[in-house]
Order: sequence, then structure tokens, then C-alpha cells
Amino acid sequence: MALTEPQKLAPPQHIAIIMDGNGRWAKQRGLPRTAGHAAGAEAFRKIANYCRSLGVKYLTVYAFSTENWKRSADEVAGIMKLLRRYLEEALQDMEKNRVCFRFFGDLTRLSPELQELCAQAESASMDYDVQVNFCLNYGGRDEIVRAARALAAEVAEGKRSADEITEDAFSDYLYSAGVPDPELVIRPSGELRISNFLLWQSAYSEFVFMNVLWPDFSPQDLDAAIEEYHRRNRRFGGT
Ligand code: IPE
Ligand code: IPE
Ligand code: MG
Repeated sequence: MALTEPQKLAPPQHIAIIMDGNGRWAKQRGLPRTAGHAAGAEAFRKIANYCRSLGVKYLTVYAFSTENWKRSADEVAGIMKLLRRYLEEALQDMEKNRVCFRFFGDLTRLSPELQELCAQAESASMDYDVQVNFCLNYGGRDEIVRAARALAAEVAEGKRSADEITEDAFSDYLYSAGVPDPELVIRPSGELRISNFLLWQSAYSEFVFMNVLWPDFSPQDLDAAIEEYHRRNRRFGGT
């Protein structure tokens, strides 16, 4: 009798990942940090495809934070070059991969070429299975401050009253407007912190911290994180 594959548990509809550990991966191999970022980009391609095959609807990935500008000019330039290359390819393959893109973050600090690629990727209209939210020059605090500023301006202009600033109204002013909160946030690389990622949206997310470095992160690691998510008892403050 043929043995059937064990049934996989349904994935969350929205998974968010802090793609961390590229530098350590490179160091372990005596390679420049940029080689780690290149390997990280490969891991992202693989995991995005795998998420699509699992039926995940939203994948939000932290690619560059508002704090990452502190790194050397060489490293920042290397990361930007990889992003450009990735987006050029992704634009060609969007239809085949059935993926659409949104960008969370202040893109105005990126090069005009990169901003143009982001705009093209965001404006492409096609059928898709998975939405990738790319966090670029993204900071959770920055996102919250921008929303507060926009709402304060509306109040000052008399367009809404202060009591009309509700949680829903606030969410509509975040980069993630219209996207459901992630049920699962994964951080590889062994660090046990949030590093300014999705501060508002992760209020009730389940966190899975893993010891693998991002370039080594495999579909099996994602399966393990989803299994761990299913073992959690989500109470949302109830009993
Ligand atoms: C994550 O990997 C990529 C970015 C932050 C751009 P790191 O570059 O932070 O890798 P580690 O943490 O130094 O290993
Ligand atoms: C978080 O990783 C940002 C990204 C993965 C893009 P960092 O490597 O910047 O975070 P810290 O400095 O370890 O907190
Ligand atoms: Mg890091």
C-alpha cells in the first residue's frame, strides 16, 4: 500500500520575515558581506516561490531598514545594486510567477532608478496569487510618525475631528493600508528582537525566532515555522 504524504497544515494568509544573517553567513565563509546579501536574495527568490506554492496570500519581507544606512557606503551600494537587479528580473517574471509587489518605506531616499523600478512593479496590473510587500528604507516608528503627521494635518485642516482618529483610521495611513496583519513573523539568524519591523501590525502576531542564517533558510525551515505557529494558542487577550 502506498504511503500518503503527511497532510501539511494550512499556512497563515500573511507571513512576515526579517531576512537577517547575511553578513554572518558571508563571514563564516571568508566572503565579503555583499556576497552574503547576494545569497540572501537567492533565498528570498526561493522562499517567495515556496510561499506561493503553499497558498500564502501576503509575504512581507524586511530588506532594508531606516537604520541600515549606518552601514558602510560600500555595503549600502552593494545592497542597492542587488535590489535593482532583483527588481529588473522580477518585472520580467511577474506574470509567470503570479506575484505582485508593494513597497513599504520611504522610497524617496533611494536612487531615481530604483524608485522607478518600484513604481513600475507596483503599477503592473495582472492576475496574481501572492502579494509581496517589500520593506525598503522601512522603519516601524517612521511609519507610525508619518501616519500621525498625516492625521494631525487633517485635523488641523478641519477635515476630521480628533475623536475620528480610530485604530482603523490609523491603519489606513500606514504603508500596509488594506493588508491584513501578519499572523506569523519569522526572524532567522538567532537574534531575539524586532528591530523596528511592523511595530503596529505585529501587535498580535506569533513570533518564531530561528537559529538559521537567512541565506541558508529553506522551505523546510518555513514548514517548521508554520508548524510552530500551529502549536501556538492565540488568545488575543481572551481566555
Ligand atoms: C540582513 O543581514 C540584511 C540587511 C540588514 C540588509 P545582515 O547584513 O544584517 O546580516 P548580519 O546580521 O550582519 O549577519
Ligand atoms: C533588521 O536586521 C533589518 C533587516 C533585516 C533588513 P538588522 O541586522 O539591521 O537588525 P539589528 O541591527 O541586528 O537589530
Ligand atoms: Mg543583521
